[in-house]
Amino acid sequence: MEFSELRTLNSELYFFIQCEGILVKYDFDRVCDRRNTNSVKWDSVQSIFGQNDVIPMWVADMDFPAAQPIVDALKKRAEHPYYGYTQPGPSIHEAIVERMNRKFQWKIKPEWIVFTPGVVPALNIAVRSLTHPGDEVIIQEPVYYPFFPAVTSGGCQIVNNGLKRIQDRYEMDLEDLENLLGPRMGMVPIPRRIKAMILCNPHNPVGRLWDREELIRMGEMVIRHGVTVISDEIHCEILFKGFRHTPFASISEEFEQNCIVCMAPSKTFSLAGLEASTIIIPNKNLRRNFAGARTGILPGPNIFGYTALEAAYRFGDEWLDQVLEYLQGNLDYLLDYFTSKIPRIKVIPPQGTYLIWLDFNDLGMDDLELRRFMREKAKVGLDDGFLFGKAGRGFQRMNIACPRNLLKEALTRIETAVKSL
Ligand SMILES: Cc1ncc(COP(=O)(O)O)c(C=O)c1O
Repeated sequence: MEFSELRTLNSELYFFIQCEGILVKYDFDRVCDRRNTNSVKWDSVQSIFGQNDVIPMWVADMDFPAAQPIVDALKKRAEHPYYGYTQPGPSIHEAIVERMNRKFQWKIKPEWIVFTPGVVPALNIAVRSLTHPGDEVIIQEPVYYPFFPAVTSGGCQIVNNGLKRIQDRYEMDLEDLENLLGPRMGMVPIPRRIKAMILCNPHNPVGRLWDREELIRMGEMVIRHGVTVISDEIHCEILFKGFRHTPFASISEEFEQNCIVCMAPSKTFSLAGLEASTIIIPNKNLRRNFAGARTGILPGPNIFGYTALEAAYRFGDEWLDQVLEYLQGNLDYLLDYFTSKIPRIKVIPPQGTYLIWLDFNDLGMDDLELRRFMREKAKVGLDDGFLFGKAGRGFQRMNIACPRNLLKEALTRIETAVKSL
């Protein structure tokens, strides 16, 4: 490729995709053998679950092939054999600005966007950029377990504002939050060092999409106490029918100025191994501190991560619509299966994410018994609930982003195991 062509690589690429690559009907029923591809999900079954015949349904990784326009974009980029240091160009910023507006009516500026190779590293850097060792950070358990080291590895303390379970739904405990933020001994306020809160929205593992009113009450409370919100919104586009996602920052200018929003196409478009995330930081000082905390530690994504991110945001929606419909079918199937055939296990119906929070407490097992039961009897590899904090004891988290036949097989195995008790 000539130098002049290189400059037009992006526009050429997308012209090509628009002409050639669209109107694909995807077959998500197809089971593909992912073993021997160095897949974390499939090639660590023996080491994680202790035997090879377990169906892995733990890590948030889809067993679906990526959208064709993304595959085309990656191939096209790979064919240009210059893989030097790469920066995100204006068109990737444009694609993100456009997507935030189109999907969430959230108007952002290109300069607010920073890129990282993953949301978890961004959470770690965000905490470090907002705190000093000894400070405190709020999380809401049960919650995605990398939140714990994101707080503690830099020397901060976890403050748990545990979620409340009300029948088959979880809610924020705002009364507890108020007490945590402003504790008193009689009339005397007790000083605290709470500097940040990591919000998970949609919430992994309980599947809640926090609604506007809850976010407003929570946000006003924490901002009043000088706490900055790190909002992990990585699952924001995996939504079940009838549910909407509200980015924390989209609520008001005050919220926008007091948060760091973490998004990525990785969960939505099955691109976790490409490691490209979009961190949106509207406040200039917070952005500068984030940049300072990452320097020399956390680079940006690589060439292919940027390419996939832009292609996903620009051309992935046809695939996404189909995947969401398929996931809804999987969820409906699972809900019906547990209700009719395994009623001892209670499902918390998710509003978003493809991760299902299952309550096994009726089986009366302790943590290790339940773990062994799932691995050795059911032979289905889920994430143990206690990993998500004490409130997760007796639960298991199941990833249903897989072909329906695999889901059916896993549910049959669980049913047989439960009935054998
Ligand atoms: C809430 C949440 N945040 C972050 C991640 C992982 O992010 P990344 O792979 O981009 O580090 C996950 C993956 O399951 C997740 O559920």
